Amino acid sequence: MPYKIDRMRMEDVPEVVAVDRRCFTTAWPASAYRREVTHPEKNLYIVLRRVGEGPLTMPDPKNGFLTNILPFLKDDQAPNPDPIVGYAGLWIVSDEAHVTTIGVLPELRGQGLGELLLITLIEHAREKRARWLTLEARVSNTVAHALYRKYTFKDAGYRRRYYSDDGEDALVMWSDRIDTPEFEAVFRDARGKLEQKINGSLLGVSV
Ligand SMILES: CC(C)(COP(=O)(O)OP(=O)(O)OC[C@H]1O[C@@H](n2cnc3c(N)ncnc32)[C@H](O)[C@@H]1OP(=O)(O)O)[C@@H](O)C(=O)NCCC(=O)NCCS
Repeated sequence: MPYKIDRMRMEDVPEVVAVDRRCFTTAWPASAYRREVTHPEKNLYIVLRRVGEGPLTMPDPKNGFLTNILPFLKDDQAPNPDPIVGYAGLWIVSDEAHVTTIGVLPELRGQGLGELLLITLIEHAREKRARWLTLEARVSNTVAHALYRKYTFKDAGYRRRYYSDDGEDALVMWSDRIDTPEFEAVFRDARGKLEQKINGSLLGVSV
């Protein structure tokens, strides 16, 4: 299935929020995404679109009809032809890049799409001359930990009761320095394997 990665735009926010709700128990409000997309100089927010297959027809039974259909309606009420199926965000503060969020629709996981989003963030962080990447993940989120470990992230501590919905602790992870030949080698190797895995289905990245 073909995909592309674009920078998140204001008009994408309702659709991103709908995907976010299917990825996390506590989704970000639309206002948080709107705030982020108005500061492209400080961050990178991206969306992964499935190309040329028409709107998704997998409504979330937890949502009402309107919530499911709303993301696919543009101002002219025409369905969005390339639905958003994943998204990710990065803040850059000085020489540190903070992965703020990343998610892929449940039915499309395990195909390399989350990794595609992560490498897009890492490439941007390297272009912006960041030296380290950091993030927080739920201690129970071993899938996410495994993804990050592929890109040299290591456990660096805990933030106790970080998640307000259930009081779960966050694991804080930091990458190795990303501006070194050693990281470049790890990155190139992992990216090469991913490119083989997705086999040309990424049509383009425009961030
Ligand atoms: C985390 C998430 C983005 C990963 O996306 P994905 O598209 O399923 O992951 P990929 O297919 O790209 O897999 C990349 C790596 O993640 C890890 N991974 C993915 N699925 C896994 C699983 N079921 N079990 C263990 N590791 C897994 C592996 O390291 C994998 O690399 P490999 O294929 O070489 O083994 C996705 O699971 C998701 O959206 N989860 C909900 C939101 C979330 O928790 N976000 C992270 C917040 S910190």
